[in-house]
Amino acid sequence: MPSAKIFAATVFGGSLEVAEELMPCLEQAGYQVTVYDEPQLSDLTDQLPDLAVFCVSSTGSGDFPPNFADFAHTLDATGAPIAGLKYGLIALGDSSYPTYCGAGRRLDELLTEYGAQRVGERLEIDATEVLQPYQEALDWAEEWVKLL
Ligand SMILES: Cc1cc2nc3c(=O)[nH]c(=O)nc-3n(C[C@H](O)[C@H](O)[C@H](O)COP(=O)(O)O)c2cc1C
Repeated sequence: MPSAKIFAATVFGGSLEVAEELMPCLEQAGYQVTVYDEPQLSDLTDQLPDLAVFCVSSTGSGDFPPNFADFAHTLDATGAPIAGLKYGLIALGDSSYPTYCGAGRRLDELLTEYGAQRVGERLEIDATEVLQPYQEALDWAEEWVKLL
């Protein structure tokens, strides 16, 4: 059975809720799924999955949430052997910030820089428009899994 790892970068829990809601969707698509709520880069690289999904909120001025800071910093500083890794990315943010979805966009750049391949478009969920991010994410995921 192919494996999928879902990583949540969150301050208030919204991205983790999105990650947990995506789990059954990917299981139905035939993946064995693990969700990481305190992710380290080694959780990704020790055994590269067939698929990774990143659910990433922004804090500060487009910064990574503290629970994801080590992951992002290590990837930025040292890179990682992730060439060919298929991934999806959901960024949670608030468009009233000039650094809208800054962390999710930055992670997307880093993953691409080290050779990972995003499947489909990045989903950006704007807190000024969407009250329940997980519902928007689920609607997106239903179409997204068809691309896998
Ligand atoms: C102190 C603070 C700083 C924030 N900074 C940004 C930001 O720079 N860019 C952005 O798009 N959203 C920003 N946000 C909005 C959050 O990313 C957004 O509300 C998100 O849905 C929170 O997700 P979470 O529940 O997973 O932490 C900020 C929110 C707070 C409270």
